[in-house]
Amino acid sequence: MSKIKFFLNESMPLEMHKVRVVQKLNLIPIEDRKKALDEGGYNTFLLRNRDVFLDMLTDSGTNAMSDRQVAAMLAADDAYAGSETFYRLEKVLQFFFGMKFFLPAHQGRACENIISKTFVKPGDIIPMNYHFTTTKAHIELNGGKVEEIFIDEALKVTSDCPFKGDIDINKLHKLIKEVGVERIPFLRIELGTNLIGGQPVSLENIIKVAKICHEHKIMVVTDASLLADNIYFNKEREEFCKNLSLHEIILKIAAATDIMYFSARKLGCARGGGICVRDVELFNKMKELVPLYEGFLTYGGMSVREMEAMAIGLEETLDLELVNQGPQFIAGFGKKLMEQGVPIVTPTGGLGCHLDARRFIPHVKSEEYPAGALAAAIYLVSGIRGMERGTLSETRNPDGSEHPAGVELVRLALPRRVFTMSQISYSVDRIAWLFKNRDLIKGLKFVDEPKVLRFFLGRLAPIDDWATKLMKKFREDFGNSL
Ligand code: F0G
Repeated sequence: MSKIKFFLNESMPLEMHKVRVVQKLNLIPIEDRKKALDEGGYNTFLLRNRDVFLDMLTDSGTNAMSDRQVAAMLAADDAYAGSETFYRLEKVLQFFFGMKFFLPAHQGRACENIISKTFVKPGDIIPMNYHFTTTKAHIELNGGKVEEIFIDEALKVTSDCPFKGDIDINKLHKLIKEVGVERIPFLRIELGTNLIGGQPVSLENIIKVAKICHEHKIMVVTDASLLADNIYFNKEREEFCKNLSLHEIILKIAAATDIMYFSARKLGCARGGGICVRDVELFNKMKELVPLYEGFLTYGGMSVREMEAMAIGLEETLDLELVNQGPQFIAGFGKKLMEQGVPIVTPTGGLGCHLDARRFIPHVKSEEYPAGALAAAIYLVSGIRGMERGTLSETRNPDGSEHPAGVELVRLALPRRVFTMSQISYSVDRIAWLFKNRDLIKGLKFVDEPKVLRFFLGRLAPIDDWATKLMKKFREDFGNSL
């Protein structure tokens, strides 16, 4: 057994916690699931949780809290201004990132709003490894444009590249030369790159990229929402980090960075967010927007209870036995799916297991949203709610045509410490059945398409009523079973 693994056997990670509070789950019959899909416009965001068996939509705000986090919530100090809770959290963050200043915000996208409003002007270009939906929306809202300069391996769904989140250094040099530093206020690095399958960024790449940026006086902004998974992979996969503690890795990432921001719905297993900086001038530039959009500087729209939980959650992020619960479960899930021939993104990353819809249902065109159709089909046959991460999550081109996504994925997020291995086995069983019957799945078409972030609220319908056909086949094979 390697030093940082806790495995029962090769495909069975071992939980280093016990469950002391439980929530009863509902598994409704497939006919009711079909009705829920019809009512929710075949968009898994629009399902009601009471109709969902295993909620793998996201790990955002749904990770299980530790007993220490829940206990800390009781000792929160309620005050509009000057709450002791804020000072406790600030102190933890100063230690965590080695940065002096902290601006609280109600969640990750609120940090993106503050950063974009402060630093992005019309015509600016923001280079990054890969965009996140809300990040891109805020940059564009302020007149900027996202330029992705990921390594070529990033979009290869089957790969053995350990750090698909890395930035391509040559593309960075080329972009700076072409665009000029005046139009690049900052470069953004997203740890645990979400939309390409929770893929990590190497510490070595972060340091190299930051050096180039700083030589050109370009700021480096790191999105640390998925930091916990990223540092696990730094330690597991990167020679450079083998002898570093998790905290030493975090401090090296922060040292290369000017602004760290995060969604505490992910990092710290609570609900909230924040921006950390070392430089007082940067702090002063952003701080006036906090009372305007979030709340007073000592709570930033967060509940003090969540802030206490976050402080403990951040401390716990330095514990390898807790941090490994994400990536190791995802690796186990992925291995079982691959044994059934189900196409997934490899290597498995953090956040969740990512099914490759382009290989799962190659007969569905990008314009008919294969990942959206697959997410709906998975819910229909299993009650599992995943999330579309493909063309549906993109924005149309200015001429109204579709902008096919680089990758067409269904994310089955595994909130930390929430699901058991038997629930994972159930998921593998149903998805393997669906894979055998994949020819029955067709695409989706929009019935109601919002202009901004359409994947959240858009309503769709199945082409050729494939959901009814799939339901019939399910009944033939599963009899009366749910
Ligand atoms: N950055 C990254 C990398 C994220 O994954 C998210 C959220 C945000 C920023 C925005 O943070 O939700 O607190 O406003 N990701 C969630 C997800 C929504 O399901 O992956 P937020």
